[in-house]
Amino acid sequence: MSAKKPLPSDLEPIETASRDEISALQLQRLQWSVRHTYENVPHFKAKCDAIGVHPDDLKTLSDLARFPFTTKIDLRDNYPFGLFAVPRTQVARIHASSGTTGKPIVVGYTLKDIDTWAKLMARSIRAGGGRSGDICHIAYGYGLFTGGLGAHYGAEQMGCTVVPISGGQTEKQVQLIQDFKPDILMATPSYSLVLAEEFERLGISPEEISLKIGFFGAEPWGEGMRGEIEQKLGLDAIDIYGLTEVIGPGVACECIESKDGPVIWEDHFYPEIINPETGEVVPDGEAGELVFTSLSKEAMPVIRYRTRDLTRLLPPTSRSFRRIDRITGRSDDMLIIRGVNVFPTQIEEQILRDKRLSGNYQIFLSRDAHLDQVEVRCELQREVSANLSAQEIAAIGKELQHHIKTNIGISTRITVLKFDSIPRTVTGKARRLFDERPKLV
Ligand code: DLL
Repeated sequence: MSAKKPLPSDLEPIETASRDEISALQLQRLQWSVRHTYENVPHFKAKCDAIGVHPDDLKTLSDLARFPFTTKIDLRDNYPFGLFAVPRTQVARIHASSGTTGKPIVVGYTLKDIDTWAKLMARSIRAGGGRSGDICHIAYGYGLFTGGLGAHYGAEQMGCTVVPISGGQTEKQVQLIQDFKPDILMATPSYSLVLAEEFERLGISPEEISLKIGFFGAEPWGEGMRGEIEQKLGLDAIDIYGLTEVIGPGVACECIESKDGPVIWEDHFYPEIINPETGEVVPDGEAGELVFTSLSKEAMPVIRYRTRDLTRLLPPTSRSFRRIDRITGRSDDMLIIRGVNVFPTQIEEQILRDKRLSGNYQIFLSRDAHLDQVEVRCELQREVSANLSAQEIAAIGKELQHHIKTNIGISTRITVLKFDSIPRTVTGKARRLFDERPKLV
């Protein structure tokens, strides 16, 4: 663990600016962003008009609270390109993330947005102790997921030598880490422990691993896991936060000198914490749901996007920007399984495709060898239950497993039970989800 804190001369002036300077910049950019969205996204204009609020009403930062929230439902209803604020021909790239059912939510970027994103990822890498000339091994998935390409453009911008290996192929990853001797690892925290185990299996000690820093995010993790990763891989583990709807990874990132929660890049993303029940803004320090407004995005600006992540805003320490505390949970039922966002309704949708299965099901989550394991228990319809052979029942399970893998992207173990094996609820909502993964410490 020999990564260095950045020299003051490496920092951008805004990172150490006064709070007044930051607020002035935020207000100016916020006024632009709200007007840009209002004038170019009919859906947002209609929502503002319905409650009688106009971009001219935004005179102070706190006036933002008068504007309507944006949610995943807005993205779903305007699938795929309805929330773009520029002509489609100016959209240089598309990324996507899980929706609550079949269709994903889609986001777009202009070339300038991609440049902003790369600069913020580079700023994140610098905050975490990365330097120009470092070798950066990127094990986040490449593709519609923002992890791989987001990290990639940022690392290139930082002046790193990038190894775009993407996810999976653990043995090969470990071989390349030994051969190329990267300084930086980008991966989900759970996958970094899978890599660590492979090193252990090969009898390679943490001191022999070249990695100095790891940027871990895309799923919740805690201080216990930080300690374990740091010890097993011999590096400094940095928490990096982000979400597709807001831009991708690099919305906030920890500083190596303090490791006290991701610093929000507040010159590009304006944070609020709200009470998830009432929607009221709560003061800094109080726990609630994190809401972001983009301040500079052109192609798909988001105004008051409800992340559903539960956390609180913390005062500035290593930079002039505020920080977020660890994400303690979500205010919706989204699960993150091995870094993949999954809504139980997406699994339900696949079960309901098979008319031989009743709509009754249960999802069990556990953790084995640091990786999330998913078992889906479902049951046969009454009419078919008695007439099928064991082989036919096994084939139903295989088919469902395949549909879940190809449509949602996660591996599952399927148990197909006889009719009426899953307890019915008499009192209300069925309990569908049994999350037996160890609690974060
Ligand atoms: O996970 C972007 C990302 C990629 C972030 C790589 C960091 C590193 P989504 O797939 O849209 O985007 O998932 C976003 O993941 O709302 C959180 O619930 C969760 N999440 C992301 N980073 C963290 C983190 C990417 N550091 C959702 N700690 C978010 C806890 C995180 N949860």
